[in-house]
Amino acid sequence: MDSKTAIKVENLYKSFGKGDAYISVIEGASFSVNKGELVALVAPSGAGKTTLLMMIGCVEDPDKGTIWLGDDKVYENRWLTKETRRIRREKIGFIFQAHYLIPFLNIIENVTLIPQTNGISKEQSEKEALELLEYFDIKEKAYAMPSELSGGQNQRAAIARALANHPQIILADEPTAALDSKRSVDVVKMLKKIATEQNVAVIMVTHDEAMLPLCDRVLTIEDKKVVSKKSEEATVL
Ligand SMILES: Nc1ncnc2c1ncn2[C@@H]1O[C@H](COP(=O)(O)OP(=O)(O)O)[C@@H](O)[C@H]1O
Ligand SMILES: [Mg+2]
Repeated sequence: MDSKTAIKVENLYKSFGKGDAYISVIEGASFSVNKGELVALVAPSGAGKTTLLMMIGCVEDPDKGTIWLGDDKVYENRWLTKETRRIRREKIGFIFQAHYLIPFLNIIENVTLIPQTNGISKEQSEKEALELLEYFDIKEKAYAMPSELSGGQNQRAAIARALANHPQIILADEPTAALDSKRSVDVVKMLKKIATEQNVAVIMVTHDEAMLPLCDRVLTIEDKKVVSKKSEEATVL
């Protein structure tokens, strides 16, 4: 795969259920996202945005198709490695609508959890976590509990956590849904900065039209396929 490409999906299919409960969600989706790109994923509720992110994130099994992450073909009609959990931990940072920080761990413990699971020492992971928290302007909250932070601060801590394993790919599912418009703009600008400065590919699901001009490109799901549009041509349904 060419060295600019972070994510490449070819002819991907996904359905759920059997018999009367059968639903086909994605039918032959093909698209790619480059390193350094912040791409919005916009489509009506139920169109399959979360399902698509979860397949790229090696969480949800596709029915068939091909997925490359960086140079690695990870899926071709089946997972090509038994170590999908390791791929997920090492290559991908997830950010969700709710921050999902672990409530009984303080902020720095939340941020260092995955790096330490990946074998990074306590000292090294804490040093890097403090740098990230400084970057996100919440270093003074490092030893506070999530319940002591505002919504925006918790979401920034969640982004710091997503970055702590130096992911090549960030998958963000409505990361600004719980934030006011100023905080939303801050978070998306931050994601853009990370994409540009660290050459990370970011896919961000959003329902907020105001975020689209901050993104490089917009992906939509139409007729169960993924379509790429310029930011100025896209609308939120
Ligand atoms: N685990 C599941 N079992 C059955 N149906 C599911 C499951 N997950 C998602 N779906 C269905 O797949 C479709 C796409 O869901 P989802 O990806 O969550 O959409 P979006 O994130 O765009 O709102 C919906 O019709 C949803 O009900
Ligand atoms: Mg969703």
